[in-house]
Amino acid sequence: MDDKTAVPDRLPRLLALAHPTVSLAALVLLAAAASLGVRSRERGGAVLRPRHARLAPWAAGVTIANTLFGIASVRLWRPDLEVAGGPHFWLGLAIAILLGTGALLSRAVARDERARLLHPMLGLAALLLALVQVFFGLSLVAP
Ligand code: HEM
Ligand code: HEM
Repeated sequence: MDDKTAVPDRLPRLLALAHPTVSLAALVLLAAAASLGVRSRERGGAVLRPRHARLAPWAAGVTIANTLFGIASVRLWRPDLEVAGGPHFWLGLAIAILLGTGALLSRAVARDERARLLHPMLGLAALLLALVQVFFGLSLVAP
């Protein structure tokens, strides 16, 4: 049988659900980190900044690791899909790059006005794309 059209067996199908499941947890972490970051700029919100600085690296780390896991998941358990096969892949790459750049810029936030302006923008763009990912991802879930 042609591998590319085969519906995955039961065990691979179950394992392939790990990536979408982790991605929902990653989304919650990203939203919580973004909320802390944005609220830390409101009046009296400065106390939230260290909480943001502690949570955000985890949110970014889990999201980036889960992006790589998504690619591995296609290779290992989804013979019916192609790696880099569509918009879900490219959006995933964009999210990882935005979060990685945002994380690097965060080191300069305290002393550089441009970093202070750009850092939240990159983070919010990543969060927005991650929400859009749900729609592209749901259409990939194994039948
Ligand atoms: C931050 C959010 C997400 C990122 C960065 C991400 C990233 C990726 C990447 C890079 C791939 C490999 C695609 C390819 O090589 O063509 C993938 C596969 C996949 N993604 Fe996501 N994804 C995210 C969220 C989701 C969500 C919310 C769902 C579904 C509810 C989902 C479902 C899938 C499915 C079903 C696959 C195919 C592999 C498998 O069945 O495990 N993803 N993802
Ligand atoms: C998810 C979206 C994100 C948003 C909306 C966001 C937003 C913000 C905002 C508004 C600030 C305050 C800047 C200021 O006024 O001085 C900030 C600071 C900071 N962010 Fe983010 N951020 C995000 C993601 C991240 C990520 C992914 C990391 C690291 C991996 C990170 C690490 C930091 C650090 C270290 C600071 C400086 C904290 C301090 O000066 O004590 N952020 N962020």
